[in-house]
Amino acid sequence: MARTGKVTVVGAGFYGSTTAQRLAEYDIFDEVVLTDIVEGKPEGLALDMNQSRPVEGFETKLTGQTTGPSGEGYEAIAGSSIVVITAGLPRKPGMSRMDLIGVNAKIVRSVTEQVVKHAPDAVLVVVSNPLDEMTALAAKVSGFPSHRVMGQAGMLDTARFSYFVAERLGVPVGSVRTLTLGSHGDTMVPVPSACSVNGEPLADLLPAADIDQLVDRTRNGGAEIVGLLKTGSAYYAPSAAAARMARAVADDSGAIMPVCAWVDGEYDIEGVYLGVEAEIGAVGVRRVVERDLTEDELAGLRAAAEAVRAKQADVASL
Ligand code: LAC
Repeated sequence: MARTGKVTVVGAGFYGSTTAQRLAEYDIFDEVVLTDIVEGKPEGLALDMNQSRPVEGFETKLTGQTTGPSGEGYEAIAGSSIVVITAGLPRKPGMSRMDLIGVNAKIVRSVTEQVVKHAPDAVLVVVSNPLDEMTALAAKVSGFPSHRVMGQAGMLDTARFSYFVAERLGVPVGSVRTLTLGSHGDTMVPVPSACSVNGEPLADLLPAADIDQLVDRTRNGGAEIVGLLKTGSAYYAPSAAAARMARAVADDSGAIMPVCAWVDGEYDIEGVYLGVEAEIGAVGVRRVVERDLTEDELAGLRAAAEAVRAKQADVASL
């Protein structure tokens, strides 16, 4: 099998390191680079992951690289066609994603500046929180065309929703289709009209009150895990989603996925990074895919757009 290209994951916390491992295990890349500011951590993790290769049978090489405050070490990411930015702090119990905006804006800004310098042609996949704002910030700081910058959230929220539906109905997760749009936060918009089980509308299988309960649990899906873990936030499902997005770029697959993308005119929403469905390929977002929404869902999406627009305007000055 031909392995090609290089993908970088910035940030070797649990989210970043599990993303790097998933990407390497796809066995489609020449190299996966993992960076972090904690001296020795990315090198140590990469060494450990490389030692898993004979067992798991993949040839993609992992490179760990510590980076310094003035961008030392970033040469290692040169030539990356995709950079996943996971750098930043996770939530603590009781915190909202928005509580991280000040501290993570500084981190995402400086990471993005280095990425632009060393991997100027990369597609950026941002996962740092608050997600919609950090994606908008990375787009602004990078100056990249908007299609080359996207955020990971919708796939994760959708996966959580699907899991809750599957558990509630006792069916395989593979038989469930769900969708969430909007923000990765309070104005998340689960889309029951797009949900089905083995092709049957979810609304025919569960009473509205039960669906509302699953929707609520989905909206609070990240906080539920933060509350249980007490330190750190979720990473297995988040990294699965981020890695699949990177893979869709690498494969130029045209897969349609819920992602945080630049919306400019779709759904009559102007100029904002927002969770929508998009066709993903080598250029990043090929196009935003509009679907028929109910009036309520559309109103929810527009409210989400206005909420994140206000914050995205602030974030540039942080
Ligand atoms: C979550 C974080 C990663 O939703 O945003 O778990």
